[in-house]
Amino acid sequence: MIKKIVGRKIKVIIVVGARPNFMKAAPLLKAMCAHGKFDVQLLHTGQHYDLLMSDAFFRDLDMPKPDISLGIGSGTQAEQTAKIMLAIEAPFAGSTQERPDLVVVVGDVNSTLAATLTAKKLQIPVAHVEAGLRSFDEAMPEEINRVLTDHISDFLFTTEPAGNENLRHEHISPQKIHYVGNIMIDSLVHHEGKIDKSNILTSLNLLPKRYALLTLHRPSNVDNKETLQKIFSLLEEIGSRIPIIFPIHPRTRKQMGDFGIVFSPKNIHLIDPLGYIDFLKLVKQAAFVMTDSGGLQEETTFLNVPCITLRKNTERPITVELGTNIIVGDDRATLFNEVEKILSGNGKQGTIPQYWDGKVSHRITEILIRAFYE
Ligand code: UD1
Repeated sequence: MIKKIVGRKIKVIIVVGARPNFMKAAPLLKAMCAHGKFDVQLLHTGQHYDLLMSDAFFRDLDMPKPDISLGIGSGTQAEQTAKIMLAIEAPFAGSTQERPDLVVVVGDVNSTLAATLTAKKLQIPVAHVEAGLRSFDEAMPEEINRVLTDHISDFLFTTEPAGNENLRHEHISPQKIHYVGNIMIDSLVHHEGKIDKSNILTSLNLLPKRYALLTLHRPSNVDNKETLQKIFSLLEEIGSRIPIIFPIHPRTRKQMGDFGIVFSPKNIHLIDPLGYIDFLKLVKQAAFVMTDSGGLQEETTFLNVPCITLRKNTERPITVELGTNIIVGDDRATLFNEVEKILSGNGKQGTIPQYWDGKVSHRITEILIRAFYE
């Protein structure tokens, strides 16, 4: 039961921690600040902390500096989750500032789960944005984070119908579930003008639709030397057909160093991680994308760019059913078949799912206002 509020604003803390959180939180923060019925603070756990993984996104997404910064940094799964829980308790409990009426978490990273657990034990309601997604693969730390977060949250804002079905199968009360659409697309729609103006293609000497874009960072792909070497040798073959741009995630760079892997084929260009605007420009103009990221499967569907997902499963099935996504796992034949289709002009075309329309943050604020005031 949500305690009703009379005669004052709803006090909200929005929690962000890692790179994929920023483009989901920014539109909601903006909508809440503009609304007048919310008194909102932004809390950054510091799970991602450096210029390229964090600061660049605050700049590109026009996000204000966080009101609260915890500076947690890296660690094992348990260390990171536990450190966030310890540090986040004081701001939530009201000992360092006013206790919130609601905590908003986004996505599936360790910060999402740590914030949810801490808030709920303090009896603060939690809204989970991007609820219900399931890869059904418990080897992914994100899957554990998703399931646990959803089971104790009070508002479950889903991005696609499969999310609603998953939650219903897990016996979550239908009153908590709200299909609002994909909030990441709000950021894309809002910043499309700036994305189109980015001159990253010129800086990297690239021509539109004449290169492929690659991202790779999932533990299942990069934490094992043989697996990573196998993927790299497949990519080297693809690189002989089309230039590949590879903005390299710090986890992947670290693993390559630890394994002593040197990877510098002629046609594959390893570059530092990019900010939001330049990266989305590279996505939009790519002939195709190869990735193991979650969000990129959705951004390519919205932008109608073929996406080859280098994983065995996806928690975002609508990107395969309606969108441009193809799951190839580590199967060489399927991968090469898809690349050939794309290069011969027969890449997968898709349609945009319902409610991926740039208005998701508006739907969420309206639902919250009804819940807290009516
Ligand atoms: C995390 C999320 C994952 C998300 C990914 C996007 C979890 C369990 N995983 O994975 O869901 O897709 O972020 O990027 O929450 N590092 C830096 N600079 C930074 C941040 C990290 O160098 O700003 C290094 C760390 O020191 C560590 C590695 O990158 O060696 C991994 O960081 P970590 O936060 O543990 O997880 P990700 O693999 O980034």
